[in-house]
Amino acid sequence: MNEYVPGLEGVPATKSNISFIDGDKGILSYRGYPIEVLAERSTFEETALLLLDGSLPARMTLKAFDQDMRDNRRVKFRIRELMRQLPPAGHPMDMLQSMMACLGMYHTESGCLTGSDHCGDLNFVHNTSVTIIAHMATMVAMWEHIRNGYDPIEPRADLTHAENFLWMLTGKEPDRYIARIMDICLILHAEHTINASTFAVLVAGSTLANPYSVIASGIATLSGPLHGGANQAVVNMLQEIGTPGKAEAYIEAQLKAKKKIWGFGHREYNVKDPRAVIMEHLMHKFADYKDSKVGPLFAIAQAVEKAATERLGGKGIYPNVDFYSGVLYAEMGIAPDQFTSLFAMSRVAGWLAHWKEQLGQNRIFRPTQVYTGEMQREYIPLERRV
Ligand code: COA
Repeated sequence: MNEYVPGLEGVPATKSNISFIDGDKGILSYRGYPIEVLAERSTFEETALLLLDGSLPARMTLKAFDQDMRDNRRVKFRIRELMRQLPPAGHPMDMLQSMMACLGMYHTESGCLTGSDHCGDLNFVHNTSVTIIAHMATMVAMWEHIRNGYDPIEPRADLTHAENFLWMLTGKEPDRYIARIMDICLILHAEHTINASTFAVLVAGSTLANPYSVIASGIATLSGPLHGGANQAVVNMLQEIGTPGKAEAYIEAQLKAKKKIWGFGHREYNVKDPRAVIMEHLMHKFADYKDSKVGPLFAIAQAVEKAATERLGGKGIYPNVDFYSGVLYAEMGIAPDQFTSLFAMSRVAGWLAHWKEQLGQNRIFRPTQVYTGEMQREYIPLERRV
């Protein structure tokens, strides 16, 4: 096949049995389980293990995984010291990418990846996955304190992954209801077939790079506003709009100026992203739990959805997962520049599942290109150039 397809739209780059999207029907499933069922009945820990291993774990398997995650929450003090040296105003995703790559310097046992067509040490893959998933949440929460000049809060082994994250982020005893909402957000963001960041993970993984570098490349790729960075951009947009009454005129003006509406559109979906449907529902539950004592962002978001859908729905452009996630996180008191880090600490489960799958069928990615430059140019010495 020599045809060039910009953005590789519609070009299969791998075979995978991890997740499935039907973009016309608004279906997303992980390992055959619809996202709605997992959001209702699973936990992030169980979903992560489902993604990694391919089937719902037996009770004892899940218990052992859960315990491993709890035992791997602490990071080495040198990682903390390195974080202290980073500029406090830097973006959390840049911190996360840097520190993920640094972690690789403390875990040098990836030699088992080389020397065979696929990784023969599944224990290495499993244990590394646990360390990376557990450490990601720790580092995101630690950064919130370090960048504000405080010591980070120690993780606790008596809490679930979502509860411990909220504890480490806020220093307050986590509210179980809010923690369950966070848990569902983590499930919803954990996996999404071969998107830009997952593709970056596959490419890096296919070179047999160490897994920390592999995940660092996923973090880098997720950080852009066309991908995971959109949730922060959505909240900035809603704040700029200010009130629900101004949504219609704002959308009209943006579209007239040929600008994008953040949190809208998706390469895979021609209908509303099923995760956005659940996220909106979660926001309603959150508002009910707070006796409607929530800020204006949700009402503005709903006005934007109505105005933008009227104008863009005909082109199959509807809210994506990022549209309501930022609103929910903002209501939880989380800083907007941390939203994409929350996305990353959840998506890491899917990235690691794809890394494992890639190792099992590995062939290095080396696509081709259509050369559009000149051929056979004469080299002119510097003194003769004008
Ligand atoms: N607002 C307004 N118009 C949009 C739009 C949006 N959010 N998303 C797509 N479009 C329009 C484009 O302007 C283009 O219109 P045209 O054919 O008249 O030129 C058309 O839809 C196709 O857009 P394109 O950017 O080529 O689609 P894509 O499949 O390459 O891109 C996204 C998908 C997600 C990158 C794109 O929808 C986008 O940039 N959305 C905003 C960022 C975002 O929310 N990202 C998070 C994704 S989970």
